[in-house]
Amino acid sequence: MRPLVATVDLAALRHNYLYAKQCAPERKAFAVVKANAYGHGVREAVTTLRDIADGFAVACLEEAIEVRAVHGEARILLLEGCFAAEEYLAAAQLRLDVAVQGEAQVEALLSASLVRPLNVWLKLDSGMHRLGFVAAKLRECFGALKQAPQVAELNLMSHFACADEHEHPLTRQQLEYFLSVQDLPVGQRSLANSAAILTLPAAHMDWIRPGIMLYGASPFADRSAASLGLKPLMTLTGQLIAIRDVPPGECVGYGASWIAGRPSKIGTVSCGYADGYPRHAPSGTPVVIRGQRVPLAGRVSMDMLAVDLSDLPAAQIGDEVELWGAQLPVDELAQACGTIGYELLTKVTPRVPRHYR
Ligand SMILES: Cc1ncc(COP(=O)(O)O)c(C=O)c1O
Repeated sequence: MRPLVATVDLAALRHNYLYAKQCAPERKAFAVVKANAYGHGVREAVTTLRDIADGFAVACLEEAIEVRAVHGEARILLLEGCFAAEEYLAAAQLRLDVAVQGEAQVEALLSASLVRPLNVWLKLDSGMHRLGFVAAKLRECFGALKQAPQVAELNLMSHFACADEHEHPLTRQQLEYFLSVQDLPVGQRSLANSAAILTLPAAHMDWIRPGIMLYGASPFADRSAASLGLKPLMTLTGQLIAIRDVPPGECVGYGASWIAGRPSKIGTVSCGYADGYPRHAPSGTPVVIRGQRVPLAGRVSMDMLAVDLSDLPAAQIGDEVELWGAQLPVDELAQACGTIGYELLTKVTPRVPRHYR
């Protein structure tokens, strides 16, 4: 069997969910489990949180169906709403909460004959300009949906664009814009993602929507998950499958981009970009072997990558190699590769087995 595994610590998920709730006392939380629970496995994530989560949030009906299969009762919010008119029928059958973010969705909802009314989250475009209505339009939609037989609760939500950046002026503007429709008699309000949960209590409203923090990664470029009190879930572990001596002047890997500047010991690791490890990770990016960081040497291949073991002479074939996880925060690797932990976690491919602890 190929020695590469993503170990997922489900106790850490419970810890991080409860921590999000502690940050926003008395509020309810939709645990955001879209994209296969950010790559960790949606069935296991929902099962782990089923007795403590107030609800779950997903990106589409297909993901909602997976959550409903594990949890018959949970509130499940479709963050982008329905993509086609017939999805409202399924949403009602599955007892979903749906975001309504555009006029076409309002029309489709008002024309639908549903088995039961839906909880609707009208989405305000408070400044991100991705989804949602400006305030005046939102008020119109509120009027149109208020008495509609298709609607049970009529709620309000929006989403931050820059809450992960310290004191970004847009965050304050978005919050003020959200509060400018405060007079509308909506049922529940929801605004905060992980960054706002951790740093902006004024945005907590009735329901928070923690995503990345549940998985023990940081939404902030300049604050580690550990310093925020979060525990990492996923550790991606491969193995040293070959070791060789490479004399000075000889190269390693595709493109011959890494050249030994000294007599070098090069290890080959059972992880590559087809597993989700970023191909653009530069030489020098750390991995951890025997508790010590050693640098990548040369380009990441599809199924393997090379590391320079010259400063770790004890390394042997069969040694475990941590690509990220408990000893090397995924955010640190992400930063070295010019991306974010979200991307690395969600891109671990299906061929990497997940082992749950
Ligand atoms: C609408 C919405 N709410 C909440 C979240 C969770 O955000 P985060 O993972 O930053 O907590 C997301 C994630 O992209 C989202 O799209």
